Amino acid sequence: MTSDLTWLSKAVTCRRIDDPDEALQLLDQFLPVYRIVNREAPYLEDENDVQAFASSWPRRVGQPGFRLALAEVDGQAVGYGFGHQLVVNTRWWKGATGPLDVDTAEVPGRTFAVIEFAVLAEFRRQGIGHRLHALLLSPSTEERVTLLVRTEDEAAPARALYAGLGYRRVGEITPFEGAPTYAAMVRDRES
Ligand SMILES: CC(C)(COP(=O)(O)OP(=O)(O)OC[C@H]1O[C@@H](n2cnc3c(N)ncnc32)[C@H](O)[C@@H]1OP(=O)(O)O)[C@@H](O)C(=O)NCCC(=O)NCCS
Repeated sequence: MTSDLTWLSKAVTCRRIDDPDEALQLLDQFLPVYRIVNREAPYLEDENDVQAFASSWPRRVGQPGFRLALAEVDGQAVGYGFGHQLVVNTRWWKGATGPLDVDTAEVPGRTFAVIEFAVLAEFRRQGIGHRLHALLLSPSTEERVTLLVRTEDEAAPARALYAGLGYRRVGEITPFEGAPTYAAMVRDRES
């Protein structure tokens, strides 16, 4: 009998894309993963949100130090992560709900911000998140990495992943009025 789960045993390959033009072309490849994962709690995004993300992609790939990491099975995306460097006048650290335990001054190339990380539910806890994270950061020139992660219970797996990767929580940020609150996390480059 053929199992519906045969794809579970297929090899997952991961690759990193630094070229903005190539990344631009890859949106259609991983957008289905974005759509499925961001439908889950606590994100609860709808198709308007997905289209807003798609529209923002050209701007995102144009950020300094942009890179994308893709996990694929048989050429189909099952996970991805991407990020870029913070610019000097970034709004990244704005909206803190209290003091942030980090130096928020930016100089070009100082900080890499992980913007998105997602793995399809069927492929989780197989180390793909770790592999994507390692690809995004190796090689890297930045002094530190930062990310924002939701504080709800449903995002506990993501917070556990980041804590295990050596990120420390430096405070909480509500980026704009009406936005959810995020734990701000920072990881210094290993010496
Ligand atoms: C966060 C996410 C990308 C992790 O992907 P992944 O491929 O499962 O990650 P890995 O298998 O490399 O690492 C799993 C680690 O995450 C943590 N983790 C994952 N699922 C967990 C769970 N249900 N409970 C607790 N910790 C969990 C653990 O530290 C785990 O390590 P372990 O398996 O050695 O215990 C994935 O859960 C996901 O896509 N979640 C929904 C989207 C999301 O929240 N993205 C982050 C936005 S900031």
